[in-house]
Amino acid sequence: MARVTITTLKEKKARGEKITMLTAYDYSTAGMVDAAGIDMILVGDSLGMVVLGYENTLPVTMDEMIHHSKTVTRATKNAMVVGDMPFLSYHISPREAVRNAGRFLKEAGVHAVKLEGGQERVDTVKALLDAQIPVQGHIGLTPQSVHQLGGFKVQGKDLETAQKLIKDAEAMDQAGVFSLVLEGVPTPLARKITEAVSCPTIGIGAGPYCDGQVLVINDILGMYQGHIPKFVKKYANLQPIIAEALKAYKEEVEQGTFPGPEHSFTMKDDVLERLY
Ligand code: KIV
Repeated sequence: MARVTITTLKEKKARGEKITMLTAYDYSTAGMVDAAGIDMILVGDSLGMVVLGYENTLPVTMDEMIHHSKTVTRATKNAMVVGDMPFLSYHISPREAVRNAGRFLKEAGVHAVKLEGGQERVDTVKALLDAQIPVQGHIGLTPQSVHQLGGFKVQGKDLETAQKLIKDAEAMDQAGVFSLVLEGVPTPLARKITEAVSCPTIGIGAGPYCDGQVLVINDILGMYQGHIPKFVKKYANLQPIIAEALKAYKEEVEQGTFPGPEHSFTMKDDVLERLY
């Protein structure tokens, strides 16, 4: 199977085939996501919450993103890997955005970057594309704007904000993003945006009419202890399974039943005799 590229995604949209995307932040998980044939892996700044234990995504640094992105690209053969630009890595100037996005490609080997925002990000997207860096947009409930939005709330519920989101989507599409994440927007609005833009839309809490879907892997596997949004479907509940395994390990070590002979190494008898 050849590596998924932005051309593959365009072709999938043209054929009406859904695009799959999941987050991953480490080598073992990324390898499993890749082997499952998922089209895109997002090294999301959600790592701040689900891996690093921050309250939100704002504290995440470029160095943390690069560190985790490197492990994900090392694990993948087929999926396109997208590096999520953390807060303040692209807000100050388009030049700084190019420098930081360039680090993702040069140091971590990702294939594209994602950034949050609409019309106000057009110049930044153009500067990144000038530097030959493919960009994925992200509008709607943009977690890096949590304080400005007044919390993690569904966006575009009234006419004014819905029309603004359509304008944001069109602006990002015209600027040249290869796809657009729509997060936390009502289903009919996501459908209208998907019809209005030429690039594939990838929904998260945006209903079934987007060209693809993305979710946070820790959420769908039931491995995150924090708040799980309504739009998440748990495809597995690993937390109790892991808790059970850890309890069994503790008991066996304490009772001396682990390690048994099958997990231990022997020595030749003559060496053993001379040792004692
Ligand atoms: O950081 C992230 O994981 C994201 C997705 C959930 C879209 O931005």
